[in-house]
Amino acid sequence: MFEHFHNRAARVAVVGLGYVGLPLAVALAASGYEVTGIDVDAAKVDAVNQRRSYVADVADTDLVAQAPRLQATGDYAILAQCDAVSICLPTPLDRSGQPDLSSLLASGREIAQHLHPGLTIVLESTSYPGTTTELLLPLLEAAAQPQGWQVGETFFVAFSPERVDPGRADWTIRTTPKIIAGVTGNCLAAAQAYYGQVFDSLVPVSSPTAAEMAKLFENTYRFVNISLVNELLLMCDKLGLDCREVLDAAATKPFGFAKFTPGPGVGGPCIPVDPHYLAWKMKAVNSSARFIELAGRINAEMPRYWVQKVQEALSSAGKAVKGSRVLVLGAAYKADVADARESPAVDILQRLLQQGAEARYHDPYIPSLNEKGVLLTAVADLEGEVQKADCVLIATAHSVYDWASIARDAAILIDTRFTVQGGY
Ligand SMILES: NC(=O)c1ccc[n+]([C@@H]2O[C@H](COP(=O)([O-])OP(=O)(O)OC[C@H]3O[C@@H](n4cnc5c(N)ncnc54)[C@H](O)[C@@H]3O)[C@@H](O)[C@H]2O)c1
Repeated sequence: MFEHFHNRAARVAVVGLGYVGLPLAVALAASGYEVTGIDVDAAKVDAVNQRRSYVADVADTDLVAQAPRLQATGDYAILAQCDAVSICLPTPLDRSGQPDLSSLLASGREIAQHLHPGLTIVLESTSYPGTTTELLLPLLEAAAQPQGWQVGETFFVAFSPERVDPGRADWTIRTTPKIIAGVTGNCLAAAQAYYGQVFDSLVPVSSPTAAEMAKLFENTYRFVNISLVNELLLMCDKLGLDCREVLDAAATKPFGFAKFTPGPGVGGPCIPVDPHYLAWKMKAVNSSARFIELAGRINAEMPRYWVQKVQEALSSAGKAVKGSRVLVLGAAYKADVADARESPAVDILQRLLQQGAEARYHDPYIPSLNEKGVLLTAVADLEGEVQKADCVLIATAHSVYDWASIARDAAILIDTRFTVQGGY
């Protein structure tokens, strides 16, 4: 039934050419499909067509290598010629912390307009349990009904959550097991035939809602465990204990313990965001997600904790935060990525600036910052700035930079990751 996937004669589309969609589009093309990426951002469409990557995990040479099978457009009309479409759209929180599914809704309406018999639609975006069947499917069914088209018979809908970990080299998009679920048995079969050519291992589950929950639980697991170890740091600090020693000792247990490390907070487009989709859903069914709420409070406290450490260290040296020169090393939300979205380093800079510090930063991957009202350009003379700074704070480690040795002569050095030296 799905021979065109098995023999890769299918033509497929990826909607949303961001951190998730572009690597997927390249992987689909590399497996032999003819791929069209669809994005509302004309600059991204042009870049893909000119074989210029803007995503760290995709090299220009990958785009060149897939050139015969990969193109991009802003026009959903291409879907008329496609057998499958994967949706990799952003699912952020709005200003009030609620799920913002506006991109998914807009795109779902576009896809519905171009729905045709045989189309397989796979949602990849992270969202609350029920998104595929309660939000996406009704949009498609509204277009299908007048034609007498049935999901699972005429067209196929599935959910398969993205597990991209930007900057990671040991697990690739192909080798990372991929959870997959269809609205019906035929939908699952269609999605398995489509993705079976690209991913080494598919993990089928019984429903899209179970797959959505599994994805949210993965990220919530990290969110909660990071908050737990952040609280360990706060507790050790109060008790005058070396948190690193305590954690290293606990981690010698060969079973029943997974080591997480404390830091400046949590960042990125996923870990601090996705659990709130689950919390929102639980509220919607008159229940609650208590761990998520508590973990969110603890993680959000970390930037304030580190700024307080700066203040204490400066105070011991007879200085105030106001007017002091503070250099923050690393602005990305995690190691080895050029992405400062939701980065706790930005929260630290924001607090330092609000308190009147002359706050500066350096990050080899982030030449300039425009996040949460923090508008800064990375310092050019790093060594000179280390010498001039009253305090240097390491926020984000990058494997190519040994911040601790670069900043070894700093007047005060605070390392959120998480050796604390000098000052206090
Ligand atoms: N980035 C990650 O590390 C990661 C990892 C796992 C899962 N996810 C999830 O994957 C999804 C995508 O994340 P991302 O980081 O790739 O987002 P992104 O912001 O990098 O990319 C989304 C792309 O969608 C485009 N877009 C927005 N609205 C559109 C529309 N109506 N039609 C066509 N294109 C449109 C944007 O221009 C952008 O290029 C999110 O749900 C995210 O939570 C992300």
